[in-house]
Amino acid sequence: MKTVLVTGGAGFIGSNFIHYVLQTRDDVQKLVNLDLLTYAGNLENLADIENDPRYTFVQGDIRDRTAVKAIFDRCDFDTVVHFAAESHVDRSIEEPEVFLTTNVVGTQTLLDAARDHWKLAPEDKYSRAYKPGVRYLQVSTDEVYGALGKTGLFTETTPVSPNSPYSASKAGADMVVRAYGVTYGMPVNITRCSNNYGPCQFPEKLIPLMIHNALDDKVLPVYGDGMQVRDWLHVKDHCAAICAVLDRGEPGEIYNVGGNNERSNLEIVRLVLRALDKPESLITHVKDRPGHDRRYAINNEKITTTLGWQPVYTFDQGIAETIRWYLDNRSWVEHVISGEYQNYYKKMYGT
Ligand code: NAD
Ligand code: DAU
Repeated sequence: MKTVLVTGGAGFIGSNFIHYVLQTRDDVQKLVNLDLLTYAGNLENLADIENDPRYTFVQGDIRDRTAVKAIFDRCDFDTVVHFAAESHVDRSIEEPEVFLTTNVVGTQTLLDAARDHWKLAPEDKYSRAYKPGVRYLQVSTDEVYGALGKTGLFTETTPVSPNSPYSASKAGADMVVRAYGVTYGMPVNITRCSNNYGPCQFPEKLIPLMIHNALDDKVLPVYGDGMQVRDWLHVKDHCAAICAVLDRGEPGEIYNVGGNNERSNLEIVRLVLRALDKPESLITHVKDRPGHDRRYAINNEKITTTLGWQPVYTFDQGIAETIRWYLDNRSWVEHVISGEYQNYYKKMYGT
């Protein structure tokens, strides 16, 4: 991993990943962050590394074939880590189309550019030979498996059965990645991860939304009975898992990544209220999300036994640090909510 293209690096997980790589990987000589800067992309997340000589930001759309090809022509990437996506389930219910174009067509555009750039005999349609050491990693989600009942865990062989437009678009993208591996012999991997938490998560998602509302003494909207279960994983553990797959993953393989940490939404909300010394009377049950998946939980066995990765954060430590981060960075939340980060971008880059 010498020259890395990260897509969606201005978002929550992507920006944590860029920090993680620049801090921990001496082998990475160049890292390009391609991000459209949608409402979810925020260059403030990367302000502390923007002058790192190994790092370059390019504003662009993964669906723009010409732009994506131009980036590959300029930089001889050996690694692609594809985070860029529309990522919020509730938004996908309101406006599904952009989820299909960004998450499916955007993925295919990237795969085509990588294939054209990496193939050793571009004119030979039967050739499956690629430059040595290249790898494409698709960052997917456990939501592609659909919902679990009270028992059981998602394994890599659980049938894909997505329930929301978001998860359907991610499952569609996974199928395209898989097909490029099988048909063209591309060295691809897919990681399917559970719910991440940590610094810089946009406050439309459960944990930062509840922290933000509680701090402002606003009601905490809990969908339905609040007994839906998610398997929470610290974002830094997710970044380490992605590196483990890039370093040691078998081409063509899927790896599930989970936190071994199942919690109901109500448990999470109560924990946030306790940590901030706010009353439970702020909890308000609202109409449930349509098609709401009841439970997600990951079986980590494949990645732990074959690649030696495992989560190191305990939830107590991770959530305490996360709440602290939001307390210390209240202006960050105000900026992303107000769109102030767009002004920051214009000031920094002049467009
Ligand atoms: P996010 O919404 O915080 O960030 C997405 C980023 O992608 C933003 O910076 C946005 O500007 C960028 N983007 C969107 N459309 C783009 C386009 N057309 N071209 C270029 N950039 C574009 O998302 P996140 O929570 O950081 O998730 C990152 C990835 O991880 C996604 O693929 C998501 O499906 C997956 N994932 C997320 C979680 C989670 O809990 N957040 C869990 C499992 C998997
Ligand atoms: O499982 C991985 C997925 O986790 C990722 O693929 C998605 O990108 C990410 O957004 C996340 O999806 P969820 O739908 O699980 O996350 P969200 O934070 O939106 O919701 C978590 C749970 O909390 C879910 O059961 C819905 C509930 N919820 C959420 C919000 C925003 C509420 O009860 N009230 C809320 O206001």
